[in-house]
Amino acid sequence: MTDTLILLCHPDFAASRANKALAEAAAALPGVAVAHLDALYPAGRIDTEAEVARLLAARRLVLQFPVQWYATPPLLKAWQDAVLTRMFYINPQTEGARIAGRPVLVAATAGNRPEAYTATGANLFPLPELLRPLQATAHRCGLAWQEPFLFFGARAATSEAIAAAATAYAGRLRGLAAA
Ligand SMILES: Cc1cc2nc3c(=O)[nH]c(=O)nc-3n(C[C@H](O)[C@H](O)[C@H](O)COP(=O)(O)O)c2cc1C
Repeated sequence: MTDTLILLCHPDFAASRANKALAEAAAALPGVAVAHLDALYPAGRIDTEAEVARLLAARRLVLQFPVQWYATPPLLKAWQDAVLTRMFYINPQTEGARIAGRPVLVAATAGNRPEAYTATGANLFPLPELLRPLQATAHRCGLAWQEPFLFFGARAATSEAIAAAATAYAGRLRGLAAA
């Protein structure tokens, strides 16, 4: 059983600074497994059987990604379409029900700053509002939604800010495991 499964999705991980640092900090924690979807599925085709098994074996789930056009990157949406549809729509009793109540944490990096995510800013809405589809998905699946971990200003962040975010992320994951 994996204590904390982090599903990492970043279409251009080689160029990542923020998600790379967050993932490294997470992977160093005991009981944390990071599954990098882009590395596992470079052709974009999710192995549904394998991913259902991976999710069933996790005590808690983290979805980690850079915000792209106010949403997850496409491969994480493909994961939802394949894995969640199979577990919670096709096989709700034999699969979905087995992970009812398990926590799910969204860990997202955003290029823009918090002030852009306001009624008078470029992005109009607070980022947590834009993540509501994921919260609704968690609710629909009976998973316990956690307040998202958000790192704003990630695109132009200094190395120090990224290191601080990675430390905060590790702390959040430790807290989630202890709860
Ligand atoms: C296609 C694309 C769309 C993006 N859309 C958003 C967006 O909607 N809001 C935002 O704040 N940043 C957006 N960004 C910026 C990324 O979120 C940002 O570069 C990333 O979080 C930095 O993390 P990294 O160092 O791991 O790549 C976008 C980037 C790309 C490539």
